Amino acid sequence: MFRISMLVTLLVIGPSISIAKEPADTNYDESKVPAYELPNACIDNAGQPVGRDEWVAYRRAEVQRLFEDSVYGATPSQKLSVRYELVESDSNALGGAATRKQIAAFFGDEEYRIDILVYLPNNTVGPVAGFVGLNFSGNHTVHADPAIIERDTGKERGAYASRWQVEKVIGRGYALATVHRDQVDPDNYRHDFTDGIHPLFYREGQAKPEPTEWGSIGAWAWSLSRILDYLETDEQVDASKVAVIGHSRLGKAALWAGAQDTRFAMTISNDSGCGGAALYRRCYGERIHHMLKPVGYWFCTNHHQYQQKEATLPVDQHMLMALIAPRPLYVASATNDRWADPKGEFLAARHASPVYQLFDKPALSQDRLPAPDQPIHTTIGYHLRTGAHDVTAFDWEQYLKFADRHFKKR
Ligand code: GCU
Repeated sequence: MFRISMLVTLLVIGPSISIAKEPADTNYDESKVPAYELPNACIDNAGQPVGRDEWVAYRRAEVQRLFEDSVYGATPSQKLSVRYELVESDSNALGGAATRKQIAAFFGDEEYRIDILVYLPNNTVGPVAGFVGLNFSGNHTVHADPAIIERDTGKERGAYASRWQVEKVIGRGYALATVHRDQVDPDNYRHDFTDGIHPLFYREGQAKPEPTEWGSIGAWAWSLSRILDYLETDEQVDASKVAVIGHSRLGKAALWAGAQDTRFAMTISNDSGCGGAALYRRCYGERIHHMLKPVGYWFCTNHHQYQQKEATLPVDQHMLMALIAPRPLYVASATNDRWADPKGEFLAARHASPVYQLFDKPALSQDRLPAPDQPIHTTIGYHLRTGAHDVTAFDWEQYLKFADRHFKKR
């Protein structure tokens, strides 16, 4: 019999996945955070300190490789052929404020289909900067716009409109492009790497990724780069000014996309938590072993060996952010989202700062978590919003200010 107590401890996320929210062994006590030493991004694998030249010449690649081998798995280098089909467009969308385009992208010989929804502002002259992100539950959930093509995900039209703030983004002169994560790699308990994008890359006889090959986060990150490929073909977009953004698990994917693909001019992590912005070594809130049973497929299988052994990881998440340097990075947390460890998210951004400083970029200099709703905006942005695990108008207001600061400066 299903126990009520189990029911109340289950947090339902998106249409397909439920994860025990607070397993009994979750640590929320700051005094129980173990003493830890972070690996140093500025010391190479041979133990030598690196400066900017060495970082660019080889250390950055070393760090990326460490993340491929121990966390997310390697993204295949093979390029798939792609064919774009403009399925629908309207230059008078959102009451005339925007142009809407819906593009089907067909990948590889089997023509694997991914649907891209794009809004472009009408009140601007010349190519515009923009935001790219995956959505949890279907393109039709990002806005109530009746013309968005629905691909039957069981969620209502506009269900997550508050998380996307489309009018606000368009009104500030930015484009927005999104894809449903399940179209790239379905996110569910039956996950077996057969029904998403992975099989298009399998070698003869291969049925699942090798231990250091990509999981779902890798596939989602791959798709974010594919959206950017499309935007590079759209002359209304300035593809040199595109921010990649994601919430929660999709924030993990946004960080990994921004880390790998240097074409992304900005990376924004909203409440991405464990396996995203939070430092593993704090062992506060969600940990690797909490994720393995329900969603181990998000990572490469080699990552699983670090459960309960976070201190043995060759990396920590400040090094993921260091891969984004010197490009602008924004990390956001929420006060009630302790499962994602706000302090660990802040400290990772703080400890990425030495690599930003190699490039003479102002980064985060303070060691203390800022007070709620007091954003810090340098080359790295950070805020701790009052409230729950979510993306809100306040969060977007900060991202737009940060984008204005970096993309619209004269
Ligand atoms: C769960 C999961 C987190 C994840 C979140 C989400 O809470 O444990 O790691 O970030 O779902 O994607 O909403």
